[in-house]
Amino acid sequence: MMAGPGKARIVIVVARAENGVIGKDGTLPWRLSSDLKHFRAVTMGKPVIMGRKTFQSIGKPLEGRDNIVVTRNPDFAAEGVIAAASLEEALDVARMKAGAREGGEIAIIGGAEIYAAAMTFTDVIDLTEVHARPDGDTFMPDLDGNVWTETSRQRHAAGPKDSADYSFVRLERSS
Ligand SMILES: NC(=O)c1ccc[n+]([C@@H]2O[C@H](COP(=O)([O-])OP(=O)(O)OC[C@H]3O[C@@H](n4cnc5c(N)ncnc54)[C@H](OP(=O)(O)O)[C@@H]3O)[C@@H](O)[C@H]2O)c1
Repeated sequence: MMAGPGKARIVIVVARAENGVIGKDGTLPWRLSSDLKHFRAVTMGKPVIMGRKTFQSIGKPLEGRDNIVVTRNPDFAAEGVIAAASLEEALDVARMKAGAREGGEIAIIGGAEIYAAAMTFTDVIDLTEVHARPDGDTFMPDLDGNVWTETSRQRHAAGPKDSADYSFVRLERSS
């Protein structure tokens, strides 16, 4: 069945170290080629919502996805992205895009400020646990165990282009 506007599921996609770190100096404090492939696979074809700092960190629009960048700066413009003045505006745009696709989903891809604001209306968290404890300056907000239920977990040993072992974890909002 085609999801209509407003019906799209909202998924947070995040990689978080064991100490809660998700970023350092505007970038990621690890090298995880395997997780970049996973990120690409789980977000491909979906509208992606990100904060302006995360967009700057990625440096270009993610291909094959509608890129929606949240910023309070009315003058912000970048090629290949849609600017939104608030998370609500970003969601409105994303719902229109996702609603046009079967099984429409919207991916919230960070950073910390956006995750914190999106947590209350997110349905699923697609979490990569990075088995390391790096220094960092940006942290994932706490995940309330009363709200989130782990429904799957797969641990992987670091591949040749990975700086740490990692686990793909799925968390769903408890009913
Ligand atoms: N490990 C991961 O999975 C992951 C994922 C994403 C990012 N990161 C890391 O996280 C760090 C960036 O995260 P961050 O928390 O510092 O920044 P961010 O959430 O990416 O962006 C923050 C910016 O978004 C805009 N913004 C936030 N809330 C808004 C609202 N309600 N309305 C309008 N605009 C709003 C503002 O932009 P303006 O200042 O332009 O107004 C704000 O400065 C980087 O180190 C990045 O590498 C990690």
